[in-house]
Amino acid sequence: MEDIDSFLFKFEGYYFLRPGLDIGFLETLNDFEIREDDVFIVTYPKSGTIWFQQILNLIYFDEHRKSTENLETILRVPYFEYPNQNTDFVKRPSPRLFTTHLPYYLVPSGLKNKKAKIIYVYRNPKDIMCSYFHFSKKMPLPAATTIEEFMKLFLEGKVLGSLWFDHIKDWYEHKSLFNIEFMMYEELKKDLRGSILKICKFLGKELSDEDMDTVVSQAMFENMKLDPRANYDNILKDQFGIQEKGHFLRKGTIGDWKNYMTVEQNERFDKIFQKNMKDFPLKFIWDM
Ligand code: A3P
Repeated sequence: MEDIDSFLFKFEGYYFLRPGLDIGFLETLNDFEIREDDVFIVTYPKSGTIWFQQILNLIYFDEHRKSTENLETILRVPYFEYPNQNTDFVKRPSPRLFTTHLPYYLVPSGLKNKKAKIIYVYRNPKDIMCSYFHFSKKMPLPAATTIEEFMKLFLEGKVLGSLWFDHIKDWYEHKSLFNIEFMMYEELKKDLRGSILKICKFLGKELSDEDMDTVVSQAMFENMKLDPRANYDNILKDQFGIQEKGHFLRKGTIGDWKNYMTVEQNERFDKIFQKNMKDFPLKFIWDM
């Protein structure tokens, strides 16, 4: 294990966030017992993780949809690799919903029985990078003062989540091992209702029209931003002492990278992207 700096831990070739990390648990991940009705959201950071946490919460829990409870989404759909922030996963009632940024080779081997379900969420990496650039300035993460500096960290994979290219390619190339659905951030932006229906179909959940209307409404950016259960503002305040709001729900748009990357940076990024993703079959949406 390599301790690269005060923010990140490298374990099995992958960078984890140091605060809240339980190395002992990481060593047992492979053997963690999976149940048939477990659901995992898998993302590279800044790809819309909290969006999917909210959507799953709304689909699965009446009390969340009807706002009769105040539980934050992270408590219902906790980060799998940071269990000490939550209750005991083994004792959690089914269906258990988890979130993870793990690479495919670190998830529990039981997921390969194809019974539990995985939703892999992906987003165009220029928007990920810009979102991450802003986010890292506020969080206990390797930060950069300019987009140029951050682009270097991002393209070298010296960030929580390691190299984006590896994350998405490895998951995609090994998809036949898992019961996995790939969902694109930009598709949700373009057709939220249609995307939520697709998620429900994959999960085998059927909602009434009225419930579906509520899910769609509460999953919209503007509404999530105002929802203290979904916007993470309290978590950032309690866990990291960050008083300002709106770091997770910043802009929520497609193509914001155009406001930050120069023409030269964009061309450089494109070259590296093409080299790494040459034969990759999934397509990306870079602007509206
Ligand atoms: P921006 O920083 O570009 O605004 P993650 O949860 O993986 O950290 O991803 C955060 C990104 O997803 C942020 O992107 C955030 O605004 C966006 N996001 C979260 N909820 C969203 C929603 N309901 N609609 C659109 N974008 C959303």
